Amino acid sequence: MSFSNPLSLSPMESHTTVPSNHEAETEPTEFEKNQKRYKDLIATFPHTKGWRPKGPLIEYHGCWFVQPLLEGCLHAQEFFQARPIDFLICSSAKTGTTWLKALTFAIVNRTCLDNSSNPLLKRNPHELVPFIENEFAFFPQVDVIKDKGNTLFSTHIPYGLLPKSIANSGCKMVYIWRDPKDTFISMWTFFQKQRSDFGPLNSLEESFDMFCRGTSVYGPYLDHVLGYWKAYQENPNQILFLKYETMRADPLPHVKRLAQFMGYGFTAEEEKKGVVEKVVNLCSFETLKNLEVNEGEKIREDIASVHWPNSAYFRKGMVGDWHNYLTPEMAARIDGLMHEKFKGSGLLEHDIDD
Ligand code: A3P
Repeated sequence: MSFSNPLSLSPMESHTTVPSNHEAETEPTEFEKNQKRYKDLIATFPHTKGWRPKGPLIEYHGCWFVQPLLEGCLHAQEFFQARPIDFLICSSAKTGTTWLKALTFAIVNRTCLDNSSNPLLKRNPHELVPFIENEFAFFPQVDVIKDKGNTLFSTHIPYGLLPKSIANSGCKMVYIWRDPKDTFISMWTFFQKQRSDFGPLNSLEESFDMFCRGTSVYGPYLDHVLGYWKAYQENPNQILFLKYETMRADPLPHVKRLAQFMGYGFTAEEEKKGVVEKVVNLCSFETLKNLEVNEGEKIREDIASVHWPNSAYFRKGMVGDWHNYLTPEMAARIDGLMHEKFKGSGLLEHDIDD
C-alpha cells in the first residue's frame, strides 16, 4: 500500500485540504481526491452536538465518530490490507488500548526485554502500534507504518465496520472492554487534557447523559462491546476477549494467554526465567507512567500535531475510580443499561478463564 503526498494535519482536526483557488492549478493528489470524496459523503450523514463545541459527532452505520476519524475509517475500509500474519488490538476508547499495545509489543519483541534500548522505554506505546483509522490515513510517514515487518495494528472501529480485508485475511485480534462507568470517567478526564482549543468540555452530567444515550466517540459504547462479543462467540479462534478489571486484578495468566493466542507462547524455560513477569512489569501502569517519555507535556516525536501529551494516556489506571465522580443514581442508570443490553448474551457471566 502506498500513499502519495501525506498530510501533516492532525486527525483530530477537520480542516478541509481541498486546494484554495490560487492553488487550483495544482493537480490534487490521490490522497486529496479520496479525502474530498470522504468529506462529501460524510456531509450527508447525520450530525449531532459533540462533547466540545468544535467536535460534532457524525453517525455512520449506527456508530458516532468525529469527522477526521470517520474519514480515517472510510480510508481504512477502502485501503487497509490485512495479512494473515497481522495482529489487531481492538477496543473502544479508554478501555485499556495503551496497555495492550505495550503488552503485545513486548511479547512479540521480547528478545530485547532487558535491553535499555527497548523501544517501550523510549517511546509511547501508540508510536509502536499504529491505529489503522488514524496513522495509516493521516501519517503514513511514521516509521512503524513504513516498516513492512511490523505486524501489530490497532483500531477503535466497531466490529461490523472493520475493513473487509481483516475478516478475509483471517488475522487474529484481541478485544478489551471495561466497566462503562470507569470508561466514561476515563474518557471525560481525557478530553479535559486535550491540547487544542475545541471549546469548553461539556459538564460531567451532560457528557454522562450523552454517553448513556450512545453519543460519544465510537459510541454507543455498549454496542461496541456487544459487537465484538458476538464476533468472539462465533469465532473464538480469531478473537480473544479480555476485560480490563480482570487483567488488572492479576495480569500474569492473561498475558500468558495473550501470548499463546498470538502464536508467541512463552516456553517453559522462559517461564522459569521469569520472562512473563518481566513483560508484565515492563508494561505495568507504574513503569510506563513514570518513564521520561510519558511525563509532563511531552508529545510523540513522529507526529508533531497530536492533541494529547503522552502523559494523558496514563491517568490513574484504577478500577472503580468512578466512585469519585458519579452519584449512585448515575451509576445505577448505566448499570441498568448494561444489564439490559447484555442480557442473554452471556457476556455478564463471561469469565476470562473459560
Ligand atoms: P484511567 O483514565 O482510568 O486512568 P486507553 O489506553 O484505551 O486510552 O485507556 C486509558 C486507560 O487505561 C486510562 O485509565 C489509563 O490510565 C489506563 N492505562 C494506561 N496504561 C495502562 C497500563 N499499563 N496498565 C493499566 N492501565 C493503564
